[in-house]
Amino acid sequence: MKILFLNPVGTIGGAEMCLLDVLATVGSARPNWQLSVVLGDDGPLREAVEALGFSCALLLLPRGLARMGDSGSRETGSRWSRGGVLAARGSVAALATAAYLSRLRRLIRAETPDLIQTNGMKAHVLGAWAAPRAVPVVWHLHDYLGSRPVMARLLRNSAGRRVNAVAVSQSVAADALRTLGDRASVQTIYNAVDLERFAFKGEDGAWLDAAAGMPPAAPGTIRVGLVATFAVWKGHHLFLDAIARISDKLPCRFYIIGGPIYRSRGSQVERDELEERVNVLGLGGRIGFVGHQADPARAIGALDVVVHASTRPEPFGRVIVEGMACGRAVVAIQDGGAAELFVNEVTALGCPPRDAESLGQAIRRLVVDPDLRRRLGLAGLESARQRFDRHRLAEQWSRLYESIGMDQRAEAANALGQANQARGNERSEA
Ligand code: GLC
Repeated sequence: MKILFLNPVGTIGGAEMCLLDVLATVGSARPNWQLSVVLGDDGPLREAVEALGFSCALLLLPRGLARMGDSGSRETGSRWSRGGVLAARGSVAALATAAYLSRLRRLIRAETPDLIQTNGMKAHVLGAWAAPRAVPVVWHLHDYLGSRPVMARLLRNSAGRRVNAVAVSQSVAADALRTLGDRASVQTIYNAVDLERFAFKGEDGAWLDAAAGMPPAAPGTIRVGLVATFAVWKGHHLFLDAIARISDKLPCRFYIIGGPIYRSRGSQVERDELEERVNVLGLGGRIGFVGHQADPARAIGALDVVVHASTRPEPFGRVIVEGMACGRAVVAIQDGGAAELFVNEVTALGCPPRDAESLGQAIRRLVVDPDLRRRLGLAGLESARQRFDRHRLAEQWSRLYESIGMDQRAEAANALGQANQARGNERSEA
């Protein structure tokens, strides 16, 4: 089996970590299969794919298209709607997109994949439009289609072909079914993580302090961090508002770990803006910024408490699972797919969405209660081992690809049978 994966960006965020997990696990479970990747932009993802032993081609997205909102911008409609979207006749973006599509079609024809898998909204649309009819397309859904009305319309149209969608949580699957109707078959495969990589490897707090440009914290300081890309909805402001409610007499220090890794316009918070808020709230000296980490496992392992604070329903929330896998105590927002990942008060502390008071209280409880931290850490680790070990992915995905391949062959055989029968009928009539 030959599978071609399309990914619009070259940076490594959550969706790209999932792509690497699928490649690594399916690649070792089915060593005879040929897996290869096409990226819309160069970046560390290319090296990571190649390091796994897979080929990675670049088909650079035109700049305008690369910068169009893909992950939820400040404006509700985002650039897809303001710019008249992909298909807008006569617009430069549409011309560039048409040219891009024909290059993508050529590339796909040359590669002759049996199946194409796409990661990210742009890739879903481009993949569905560029793939030959006979080649099935699998959309790996990391986002709520319903929250992007314009993208959803494009996807509904491109689902004029039959599409197989795999959602990262039941919540995302339910949304996809509502949005796409019966045009797509939708199933859920929960993401998983490499438990060897995401494991507690010993106290690393001094490294984290240095990475944040802070003096070493006093022994016994509890390190609490939000680990997220700088997307506007990841809750950086909420985290700061929660910290402002926690007494500065408590032995704790806070960290914002991550950076603006996606390039779409208007979709990211700015570090300056966060620093200004830190000053306004009088939090200077209590919080440090640690930029995007190529090795998030190290940063997560260096924390005592991992915070998830998204202000919109989180499709999945990898960092929750990564925190549990590292045996850290996790505080997470109980909304969207994130709520499917933990049991409140057992494997993590859950908080209602957009509620700085509750988030502050949950963090405070963990700072003052070492037993609670230990209990959640152990239970979270056990749950990560049971539910989110990435070895599970190998069989789930391989079987999915095999069954789609079988459906496709059955359909082709059916079509051939019908054609033969029609020819037979013609002959007997003649
Ligand atoms: C996207 C989602 C996030 C998820 C990740 C991996 O970034 O926003 O919730 O964890 O993809 O599926």
